[in-house]
Amino acid sequence: MGKMAAAVGSVATLAAEPGEDAFRKLFRFYRQSRPGTADLGGVIDFSVSHAARGTGPGATKVVKSQLNLSSVSDHDALRAGLQPVSKWQAYGLQGYPGYQWHWVKQCLKLYSRKPNVCNLDKHMTKEETQDLWEQSKEFLRCKEVNKRRPRSLLEKLRWVTLGYHYNWDSKRYSADHYTPFPSDLAFLSEQVAAACGFQGFRAEAGILNYYRLDSTLGIHVDRSELDHSRPLLSFSFGQSAIFLLGGLKRDEAPTPMFMHSGDIMVMSGFSRLLNHAVPKVLPSAEGDSLPGCLGTPLPADLPRDSVVEPCSLEDWQVCASYLKTARVNMTVRQVLAVGQDFPLDPTEENKRDITAEGSCHLDDDNSQVKRARLSPDC
Ligand code: OGA
Ligand code: MN
Repeated sequence: MGKMAAAVGSVATLAAEPGEDAFRKLFRFYRQSRPGTADLGGVIDFSVSHAARGTGPGATKVVKSQLNLSSVSDHDALRAGLQPVSKWQAYGLQGYPGYQWHWVKQCLKLYSRKPNVCNLDKHMTKEETQDLWEQSKEFLRCKEVNKRRPRSLLEKLRWVTLGYHYNWDSKRYSADHYTPFPSDLAFLSEQVAAACGFQGFRAEAGILNYYRLDSTLGIHVDRSELDHSRPLLSFSFGQSAIFLLGGLKRDEAPTPMFMHSGDIMVMSGFSRLLNHAVPKVLPSAEGDSLPGCLGTPLPADLPRDSVVEPCSLEDWQVCASYLKTARVNMTVRQVLAVGQDFPLDPTEENKRDITAEGSCHLDDDNSQVKRARLSPDC
């Protein structure tokens, strides 16, 4: 996906609860939507060609944006596991089928490790969360034969933070909570940002979201980064989701769109501070199959200086088993402007910001903390 302007209106209907804003109403509608029914008729599908999308209410909302193709070479695109730049579409960028596995594997196997921070750290020791992949891989590989086994640790993973670690309570980043940002993900982000006209983008913070089929992400604005002139990049893998892109205020009805595996969303300019949410992850048609682009790992035909690596059959089996009922989303942010430092002392204005809405944790329907329902903000 590209830079998108807010659009309003939706074909979805549902009685509003008293005092409910337009965004919340559509969030509820899509949370309880039934895949395969007319419920999803109004959701924009970027994977359908522009002509085939027709002139329905969704079609008119797709904004074509120009990519700065000369700033990314085909070689660097290939190194990052992306298609040659000439194939990138103006409203959307799709990952190179086959190399999506690299990023899925990194999210599950590598980025989930220390010193990165994850949701499990709150209740578990460093030793217990040291290697979620090792502890879970056998469970996942024999998933078919034992569907009723307890969830493995990887399946309990909800989020991981990278670089400047986002503090969910203060809704801030800080200079003293930083670990090195993964260089392969930084490289991918730089290529995508450059193609969208943002040369010199610095990947400084990442939030990785791990969705099960019953997970939702509450309505929020990502405003904690100190430089809002830099884009926010979001990469999606695995099962498709409904993404709601709203306006600056929550009383503006959001635009629903599908986020498929390999889609990249760039929120920049006006859209950088828009409300958004994920009310629904869609189960695959067969219940436990993978999107076509993730079917099998492609034979490795990578440049010698590639940052993506071939995925072994064993690793692929674990990732495939996991992704049959899951979605993984990586968001990459530049926190500081070049030359900028974190403020030494929070200003009065920043203190007030803490109570305003910010990013929300993932919310599971069966989890005990139902943030999306408990809090009016998310
Ligand atoms: C986020 C976010 C969207 C998604 O992490 O801030 O908005 O598609 N993620 O998961
Ligand atoms: Mn967000």
